[in-house]
Amino acid sequence: MAQTAQPADLVMPSAPGAGAPGASGGWLWHWRAWQAQVRWAATTQQIARWLGGVSPGSTELLLIGASGGWMMSSAWLQRFRSVRAFDLDRWSAPVFRYRHGAALQQSRTTLVYQQLDALRYLPQLLRTYPDAFVLFDNVLGQLRFVHKRIDAAEAQLHAITRTLRGREWASVHDAYSGRVGASASQATPALGPLQTVRPRSVAGALPQFSIAERQWCAQIGVQGAWLDHLTAGVFPAGTPIQHMAWSFSREHRHWLQAAWVRA
Ligand SMILES: C[S@@+](CC[C@H](N)C(=O)[O-])C[C@H]1O[C@@H](n2cnc3c(N)ncnc32)[C@H](O)[C@@H]1O
Repeated sequence: MAQTAQPADLVMPSAPGAGAPGASGGWLWHWRAWQAQVRWAATTQQIARWLGGVSPGSTELLLIGASGGWMMSSAWLQRFRSVRAFDLDRWSAPVFRYRHGAALQQSRTTLVYQQLDALRYLPQLLRTYPDAFVLFDNVLGQLRFVHKRIDAAEAQLHAITRTLRGREWASVHDAYSGRVGASASQATPALGPLQTVRPRSVAGALPQFSIAERQWCAQIGVQGAWLDHLTAGVFPAGTPIQHMAWSFSREHRHWLQAAWVRA
């Protein structure tokens, strides 16, 4: 399923740890997200429902890749006493405050929003906030656009999951993305299957696609080769994982995966 072409809409700068937002940051991204709210609504609701089942032990949240919180649920954020949000993009904080600020004030949740390469500084963040729950909010699937080499992206993803060992965390991220057929592009994607992450082979290879995943590909209208976002090994074996589809544009869909990893 992997291909090398990158969807122009999501291409990030090629310099590792560039510290600057790609096309999923910047005012143009927020303009697009604002325009796409209706098309994205079904996925936003699915994410909200999934988050509703995520009830971490901590009352502190580190929200990484928060952007403007375009697909984030205010109701879920309200369960925390403090939310520390991070994004590379300087336009994100005001948008996030505009979208979620009132709800957070109502629940007396403190919001601190910082422009930071939070993936690079993840070890420091985890040390500084040792009890906080961490949510990667559609950011881990973007690492393949940050690095020139695929193995460098894979190595960073691996380092991130190693750093998180023993911590309670969750992630929603792109697994694959690509074009869909004309009939699928008209339909609102249904919620995908809920599965358990299967273990790697003894040699360390990732498992093949399951029957449910293959059926899911057909349901969401996968056409041609889809881009592999290299996140297949992010969640540990045994973690329940929810599949979802995101109609990014009319012809382009993302296969999202969401899971809550308990400490
Ligand atoms: C697809 S968007 C996230 C969308 C967001 N969750 C929402 O609901 O609107 C990905 C975001 O991750 C941010 N990002 C990418 N790499 C990052 C990093 N290393 N540290 C912090 N933010 C990062 C991008 O700037 C972008 O705003």
